[in-house]
Amino acid sequence: MERGKKRAIYPGSFDPITFGHIDIAQRSLKIFDELIIAIGDNRNKDPLFSKAQRLAQINEIFSENDAVQAVMFDGLLVDLARQLEVFTVVRGLRAVSDFEFEFQLSSFNRKMEPRVESFFMMTSEKYFYISSSMVRQVASLGGDISDFVPPNVSADLKNHRR
Ligand code: COA
Repeated sequence: MERGKKRAIYPGSFDPITFGHIDIAQRSLKIFDELIIAIGDNRNKDPLFSKAQRLAQINEIFSENDAVQAVMFDGLLVDLARQLEVFTVVRGLRAVSDFEFEFQLSSFNRKMEPRVESFFMMTSEKYFYISSSMVRQVASLGGDISDFVPPNVSADLKNHRR
């Protein structure tokens, strides 16, 4: 990626990525020139897909968009920010209930690395109710998830169920 461009990191578990995440990624590109989707692990969650699987899903979804790059990371987000020299972090907010966690996360991150600034975007009203865990649950019970995730993710969830 070129220097001098406005770059941001969009971190998350993305287990799996949903239309809500994709909407945030696409809209953030009105502000940033390049977005690095960083697939990490939230220690409070037990992942369904490996990080490599999530990376493959995200790469396929954004294969036509050169402004988006996906990476996996272990460890702290602030270490990734230092490594990439990108200190803006994008996160989506769905409801008031997200605020407390995001406030804590961004405060911790800024305390550990003062150059980090978090940038919050409101999730589109079309997607505010979607969550990855709901999608996983509906898929595991054989429900239709095509309104929530792209076809490649839907296929992976179906294969997983089998
Ligand atoms: N539309 C729809 N759903 C959305 C959404 C949107 N715009 N934005 C978030 N969500 C949902 C997700 O579907 C997910 O749902 P779930 O809780 O049912 O799984 C949830 O909101 C949040 O998931 P996601 O955005 O994928 O990421 P996360 O909050 O699990 O990610 C990390 C957290 C990875 C960024 C954070 O744990 C991290 O930085 N980890 C690295 C270690 C570190 O540095 N820790 C810092 C400690 S202070």
